[in-house]
Parts: sequence; C-alpha cells; structure tokens
Amino acid sequence: MTPSAAAQADTSQTLTRCRELVQPALVEAVERLHPWLAEMAAHSLGWTRTQDGFAPGSQGKGVRQALTVLCAEAAGAPAECAVAGAVTVELVHTFSLVHDDIMDGDETRRQRASTWNAYGVGPAILAGDAMCALAAQNLCDSPAAQGGAAVQHLTHALNDMARGQADDLLHEFRSWMGPDAVRVQEYRLMAERKTGALLGCATGLGAVLAGAPAATVAGLTRAGRHLGVAFQAVDDLLGIWGDPLDTGKPVHNDLRRLKKTYPVLAALASDTLAARQLVGILASGKTLDDAGARQAADLIEEAGGRSATQSEAQQHLDRAHDCLTALDLEPTACDEIRALLPFLIHRRA
Ligand code: IPE
Ligand code: IPE
Ligand code: MG
Ligand code: MG
Repeated sequence: MTPSAAAQADTSQTLTRCRELVQPALVEAVERLHPWLAEMAAHSLGWTRTQDGFAPGSQGKGVRQALTVLCAEAAGAPAECAVAGAVTVELVHTFSLVHDDIMDGDETRRQRASTWNAYGVGPAILAGDAMCALAAQNLCDSPAAQGGAAVQHLTHALNDMARGQADDLLHEFRSWMGPDAVRVQEYRLMAERKTGALLGCATGLGAVLAGAPAATVAGLTRAGRHLGVAFQAVDDLLGIWGDPLDTGKPVHNDLRRLKKTYPVLAALASDTLAARQLVGILASGKTLDDAGARQAADLIEEAGGRSATQSEAQQHLDRAHDCLTALDLEPTACDEIRALLPFLIHRRA
C-alpha cells in the first residue's frame, strides 16, 4: 500500500530530526580531511562551500543515518549515543556511491555531476578512500564505540559490501538465458550484500552503540539486510522508470550496461512473448540506444517485471517487520521505524 500524505509527512519529519542531529558531527568529520579531499567529499555529499562552512544543497535522503539513530532509541538509549555511528554510515554510503559511479560509468548523482565526472577518476577514488578511512576513524574515536564491537560490526559490513559489488559487476558478464544466466536467488544474495550490508550495519550499529544485548544487535542487523534487498529492488526499478529530476541519477543506464537488475530477471523468468522479445533485444550484442532502452523498459513491464519487483520489495519489507516484532524494543522508536519502512519502497528518489 502506498503511504498516505500524512504518513509521508511523518517520515519526512523523522528524516529531518535525525539529519539535524547528525549533520554538525558529519560536517566536523569532513573538515578533518585534507582540504581538497574535503571539497570532493562535500561535493559528493551534495553540499556547497560557503563562507561559514558547508551549506546543504542536493543531499541524499539520509535513510542510513536515520536508521542508526532510531535503532539506538529502539534499543532504549538516547539518540545522541548514535551520532558517531550515523556519521560513519553516511560517510561509508557516500564513499560507496563515489566508487560505484566510477564502476557504473554514471555521470550524475544527487542532482549534480558525479564526483569522478567533476574531479576526475583518480581524485574521486582517493576521495572515496579518504571517506572510508574517516568513517572508521570516526567510529574508533567515539567514546560510545563499545570497545571493538562497533568497529567489528562496520568492517564486517564493508567486506560484505565489496563482495556484493564484486558479484554485481561479475553478473554483467553472465548470459541472459540458459545455464549461465543469473538466478533470482543469486540476485538476492548480491543485493543483500551490496546494499543490505550497509543498511544492516546502520540498524545494528545503533543497537551496538546503545549497548544492547547481542540478540537485539543480530535482530536489527537482519531487519536492515532485508531492507537492503527491498531498497535495492526499488532502486533498480527507479533506474528504469524513475525520473532523473527526482532521483538525481541517470535513467536507463542499467539497461544500457546490461545490468542483471531485478525487474529484468523477473521479466525474463516469465513465460511470455514479451520476455522472448526482451531476450532478443538484450542478447543481440548491440549497445542499446535511447529507443532500444525504452522498448526494453516497455517489454519488462509487459512481462510483469515491474510489478514483480514491487512485490519482491514488499516481501523483504514484511520480513523486516517480522524481525522487529521478534524483539523487545522501545515502542515509540519502534513505531517510528515501522512508519519509515514503507517510504523505502514507495519512493520517487
Ligand atoms: C543509492 O542509495 C544507492 C543504493 C544503495 C541503492 P540512496 O537512494 O539511499 O542514495 P541517497 O543517499 O538518497 O543519495
Ligand atoms: C549501489 O548499487 C550499491 C553501492 C554503492 C554499494 P547501484 O549501482 O545499483 O546504485 P545506484 O543506482 O548507482 O545508486
Ligand atoms: Mg550505480
Ligand atoms: Mg553499481
């Protein structure tokens, strides 16, 4: 079900509350970088340099920082204890996007030139590396870090995210049909790693920083990983039918690069004429031009790939709700998390 206007307003209030709490520490962290790297980090975060520091411009949605804050509250701690973790996950997220745009050859991000496009590939790699290192340092320096537990949680996620990105790239070389084709289950594992690892880090880290028991950390991490698969499926959908004015990213590039995204895999799994026509286009070996990409998008929809993606996302959202239900969480914060979840799969950006 699409969230009502009132629910959307509540979600936006939640995201704003968390952003306002985290932003000063995020700015402070970025200021610790080499000035050139700080400039690139600010660009990738969607900020603009002003006389007084950085002003927000075209920032991301801030989903991960909000989940860290909300999960710390749900584990019974004050939001403030989660700030360092929230800064860390936003830095890791942004570093991953900077590197991802290089891998995917995407020229725009967050309504502006992607970092490699604005500064060059080498500098963008370095800026991403610096943000990743800063993210880890920021967590190590936090008095709330619970010994090595928080950093261990982070490094596990970083490793898993890289595994997911590796599989995502390798899937590009696989066939569309036949024994070498990417199976939906392989997609899920890839998405759980490339996107779920960090969302699971965001949720679990909130619990770690709150000093929650291991079962709460594990349950919230599992919830976040399901959210990651749901979020990625919808990201794939927006990459085909989204409006670049909303997403701030290019449209149809996944199709042009022959990415094995969920809508395409679901469409191909359908025994329909549209699926067979789609294979004809994708497997022709020709690069898709604008008209070819539009035709492929229409066939994916006709073969049911769009609706199958939305229901895949919903199923993982339901699993995330189940994870929350199984835990003994602070009710108000838990309700706020539950209210945020539909936004993750019914979004335009
Ligand atoms: C985009 O994430 C990359 C994925 C993991 C799918 P977001 O959609 O959260 O990006 P921003 O932070 O809002 O720009
Ligand atoms: C992003 O995956 C995942 C990571 C950055 C780890 P995508 O390549 O699918 O995300 P977008 O669509 O470029 O944001
Ligand atoms: Mg990408
Ligand atoms: Mg990618």
